[in-house]
Amino acid sequence: MLRAWATLFGCAAELRENLGGISSLNNVLATADAHLLGRESVVTSSPTFLPIMELRNHTILITGGSSGLGLEFARQLLALGNTVLITGRDQARLDQAQLLLPQVHAFRSDVSDPAAIAALHAQVVAQFPALNILLNNAGEIRKLNLNDPALTLPDVTQEIDSNLSGPIRMVQQFLPHLKAQKIAAILHVNSGLALAPFPIAPVYGATKAGLRSYTQSLRVQLKPTAVQVFELVGPAANTPLNDRLGDAVDNSQLMEPKDLIAATLTGMQQGQEEIYPGLAKVIRFLSRLAPGFLLKQLSKPVAKEFGGLKPV
Ligand SMILES: NC(=O)c1ccc[n+]([C@@H]2O[C@H](COP(=O)([O-])OP(=O)(O)OC[C@H]3O[C@@H](n4cnc5c(N)ncnc54)[C@H](OP(=O)(O)O)[C@@H]3O)[C@@H](O)[C@H]2O)c1
Repeated sequence: MLRAWATLFGCAAELRENLGGISSLNNVLATADAHLLGRESVVTSSPTFLPIMELRNHTILITGGSSGLGLEFARQLLALGNTVLITGRDQARLDQAQLLLPQVHAFRSDVSDPAAIAALHAQVVAQFPALNILLNNAGEIRKLNLNDPALTLPDVTQEIDSNLSGPIRMVQQFLPHLKAQKIAAILHVNSGLALAPFPIAPVYGATKAGLRSYTQSLRVQLKPTAVQVFELVGPAANTPLNDRLGDAVDNSQLMEPKDLIAATLTGMQQGQEEIYPGLAKVIRFLSRLAPGFLLKQLSKPVAKEFGGLKPV
């Protein structure tokens, strides 16, 4: 994402070469999983194919579907033969998305606002009673200098409202409806930054780590139901989200949304509860093998952009 990612990616490429490619890396991860977690890994070189839904003929609600990964999810899920609903705050962006994808149904709604979620639920279940998949994707990232005395309390928690409270509230609101369906699923769009802090965007990383914890608990609690819970642990991707991070973005290292979403949909159809496309596998590996090294790499932009850790 930032230049630190580039260093990380360089190191990742080296690691991959040393390990003889991603499939070897997957084997290492699978072994580490089996040993560390005492359960079968979801990342293996020959994945277990669980009996899982085909991604067609479903009705799918995507939060934040007017841009980036959400828009690409909408495009690919429509092409597979699903009914797709998207949300977003900005009506102009929703209109633009509908121009690009005329079959999509758009709803203006802010996931950080509980009243808006309740209103969205009422509208969607009335118009689309077959809704059976919730894709919690809406999110934002912000550089925050915690030493800056001008930082306000709303500023410092804005991402929590969208990235963490948003998906938790969406699940709670839509869960009774999803549980009433024969086949149902929830996908959380998470980030490699759930696995390691990213100090230049300290609250973003905290929201994603929180979302990961919540998602795992949700999966346990929904085990007796028909609602499957998936988590996409995404690598840095080529979307407008990263524009917020300014000049420090290294575009050459970003995964293309088309490939990222294709890998995610394949993972879901193969029954992988946690999906790690592209370099997310490497972040996962480093977060277990060398968390201190990973944090050091991801900390580099702080000194570069905020002039080190000195108070402002
Ligand atoms: N890009 C990456 O490098 C990357 C990597 C891993 C994970 N992710 C995750 O992927 C998800 C999508 O990010 P993206 O890269 O596709 O970003 P993006 O291109 O900026 O799109 C974000 C989408 O979310 C919507 N949104 C933001 N806040 C919202 C809110 N409070 N309520 C409703 N909609 C909201 C935006 O529309 P409005 O602004 O009009 O509301 C937009 O449609 C995020 O959860 C992000 O954390 C991204």
